[in-house]
Amino acid sequence: MKILLVGSGGREHALGLGLHADPECTELHVAPGNPGISEFAPCHPVNISDNQAILTLAQQLEVDLVVVGPEVPLVNGVADLLRAAGISVFGPSKAAAQLEGSKNFAKEVMADAGVPTAHSFTCTTQAEIEKALDTFGAPYVVKDDGLAAGKGVVVTRDRQEALDHALACNRVVIEEFLVGPEVSLFGISDGKTVIAMQPAQDFKRAQDNDSGPNTGGMGAYSPLPWAPSDIIEDTHKKVLAPMIAEMAARGTPFVGLLYAGLALTDHGTRVIEFNARFGDPETQVLIPLLKTPLASLLYKAATRDLEGVSLQWRNESAVTVVLASKGYPTSPESGDVIGQFPNVENTVIFHAGTSHNEKGLVSSAGRVLTVTGMGSDLTEARDRAYRAISHISLDGSFYRTDIALNASVAEKGN
Ligand code: AMP
Ligand code: GLY
Repeated sequence: MKILLVGSGGREHALGLGLHADPECTELHVAPGNPGISEFAPCHPVNISDNQAILTLAQQLEVDLVVVGPEVPLVNGVADLLRAAGISVFGPSKAAAQLEGSKNFAKEVMADAGVPTAHSFTCTTQAEIEKALDTFGAPYVVKDDGLAAGKGVVVTRDRQEALDHALACNRVVIEEFLVGPEVSLFGISDGKTVIAMQPAQDFKRAQDNDSGPNTGGMGAYSPLPWAPSDIIEDTHKKVLAPMIAEMAARGTPFVGLLYAGLALTDHGTRVIEFNARFGDPETQVLIPLLKTPLASLLYKAATRDLEGVSLQWRNESAVTVVLASKGYPTSPESGDVIGQFPNVENTVIFHAGTSHNEKGLVSSAGRVLTVTGMGSDLTEARDRAYRAISHISLDGSFYRTDIALNASVAEKGN
């Protein structure tokens, strides 16, 4: 099977390694890829916002499957264009990707599907906004309805800040603040059947102890030793299966990766958000733990053939830590030289925002590398990830030191 993978981040590096490792994948191409991916797969310089360019490349390469990593091409409808040309795609249609593209749409589908989520109001006027803010009170949760590259959500106790953010959005969803640990749980769907992956936890804030601004994610780990033992079955039953059934009933089946961001509250699981693609950096812990061959799995999803498939996981833990460039997330620096990679057993260094120039390997985005450590438990996995990341030099860069720390301490205590 020939595969084209679309994207250029740490998530795509991890997906690329997973696809490449499956013997069913005879040829892997990536568009546009990155220097890490180019070590094992040819990379093609394509603008991922250019649907036609992606289609042309897929046709030239005569691929059997296109796997789309990031949300932008999905929300732009690249999957529709590829499918219309007879190419199998792992990734939802433009209509189904609205689960990520519009918070209001996701709320409507959840309401129809009976999926538990925070109470909310969708507002367009200042009067509606102020009424919603005062109905829920602080902390205020204010979400831009549209795609905002991770900058759309403000959670604050400051009413003025909440109001300012809401007024800056065209349409805004204001919702109840949910209390409880957050979990990322992904469903792989062929449009009718959905298979839940094991859960991961992401660390969204830039600094230790969940301080600092929201980011795309500063680290992740899996599995979650503290999570309820039925979390996978429970989320499948209450969240993933009803969403997939509702999307099919609407005539817009969701084929691809349904990312459920959950809060485990005292009143049960509540959905915080959906994404229409694999999470980054959660993918950098999940794919190394997944034993099931990835290319065949995603091909089955793309060709409506998932019924009866189950996932096999390594009996190990994985922890990933993001190396971010100076200034991330507000004004990340780029163009700084990245030093030699250390050789630490059972670690993988994923490229997230790197490029080559006359100076060598340099940073090219806010999240530069994602370093994953594997081990028999979270403590061992953490030790390896941190040993490796501490030996990578990049001027002004930083990383959180507490990824999976509490979970590893709790695991040892049990
Ligand atoms: P999102 O961009 O939707 O992932 O939201 C970013 C972050 O805001 C989430 O990871 C949560 O930490 C926080 N957040 C979003 N919605 C809520 C909510 N209703 N209650 C509490 N925190 C929330
Ligand atoms: N790690 C959060 C995301 O991928 O949206």
